Amino acid sequence: MRRLLVTGGAGFIGANFVHLHLREYPDDRVVVLDALTYAGNRANLAGLEGHPGFRFVHGDIREQERVEALLREERIDTVVHFAAESHVDRSIVGPDAFIETNVGGTHSLLKAARAVWLESDDAPADPLFHHVSTDEVYGSLEAGEAPFTEAHPYAPNSPYSASKAASDHLVRAYHHTYGLPVTTSNCSNNYGPYQFPEKLIPLMLINLLEGRSLPIYGDGRNVRDWLYVEDHNRAIERIIESGRRGEVYNIGGNCERTNLEIVERLCDLVEEAFGEDESLAARFPACPVVKGGHGRDLITYVKDRPGHDRRYAIDASRLRDELGFGPRESFDSGFRKTLRWYLENEAWWRAVMDGSYREWTRVQYGDC
Ligand code: NAD
Ligand code: DAU
Repeated sequence: MRRLLVTGGAGFIGANFVHLHLREYPDDRVVVLDALTYAGNRANLAGLEGHPGFRFVHGDIREQERVEALLREERIDTVVHFAAESHVDRSIVGPDAFIETNVGGTHSLLKAARAVWLESDDAPADPLFHHVSTDEVYGSLEAGEAPFTEAHPYAPNSPYSASKAASDHLVRAYHHTYGLPVTTSNCSNNYGPYQFPEKLIPLMLINLLEGRSLPIYGDGRNVRDWLYVEDHNRAIERIIESGRRGEVYNIGGNCERTNLEIVERLCDLVEEAFGEDESLAARFPACPVVKGGHGRDLITYVKDRPGHDRRYAIDASRLRDELGFGPRESFDSGFRKTLRWYLENEAWWRAVMDGSYREWTRVQYGDC
């Protein structure tokens, strides 16, 4: 039985991780620590309130003393560190929060883990600090270049990726200098339930349903390597179970697509869904499909993102060869699941988009 502290567990990937973990390991203890920034949503953890192993703590990873107290009080043996500022566009407009949370916050957590696990009598038997990071630390690939391995040099290009790179280095340093047991994973682009609608897939889907334009940056030929969020989290579970301490594992979907391909596929799937379910036309009357038009007509090319990385692609062979891991979802199956989830959870995304989820969660859950 493990006792986990999941930072950022009210965000997109963290919340999916908590649901998966408590489904697969119902006897474990899972304590979520989340500051509930704009991206954190208590409703992402709905349904877990009565679970005996689950606890939600509203707090900031930068509060070192509080984290130390939590590690001791809950006898935490596994930290799974998702908490971060995660959106590249926001990092371009306002980098400070990225340095404060991603660098300062990660360092604060490392100091807390070191104090409790290495410098006190309260240490659990087999502790592990798992750091969740991104493929963006490796920079950008040209067409035809080999995918990123774990040995690829770091070359971050945005304030976001630079802050994640700095956090990766701190995690590595705490292992080599102090002997803190750590693992790190660098994953490619995720998609799936609970993703905040500022990221490509949910943003485009909701715009399409609402009949708004689909803003594609630059020429739309930038390439990302897409992975269904549950596959990312299953990979993290494998690393926590059996990953070598001090090691880094790349996680990817072997699924490179241009942004234009993603948006066009989304348009086709939405047309298909409207064809199969007549009630969608009444729910989303502004969607062009309702008037016999096409989602693709809404595609609009807009000014490119400054410093926009051209291509990411992951070589996940270490994860496959050492830990026997491979994704379960194909792009098609994962994409269809995601579309279905957003169609079935309109209340969730409407509340997120108009900000009313803040008040709703305050009434539901109070301030914690
Ligand atoms: P997200 O923005 O959806 O969620 C981040 C969560 O962290 C939110 O719940 C937020 O409230 C919380 N948080 C932010 N600052 C905090 C602080 N100071 N203290 C406590 N909690 C705080 O992010 P996500 O997309 O779920 O990403 C999770 C992690 O995975 C990040 O570390 C990100 O870098 C990494 N990652 C994301 C992707 C992706 O495609 N989204 C891919 C690879 C890696
Ligand atoms: O690669 C992993 C990273 O993937 C994670 O570390 C980040 O946390 C996550 O946000 C994601 O970063 P990206 O910048 O790749 O994701 P985003 O959804 O913002 O954009 C995906 C691509 O789509 C990117 O090339 C920019 C483009 N884009 C995005 C938006 C929001 C558009 O063309 N139009 C848009 O409106």
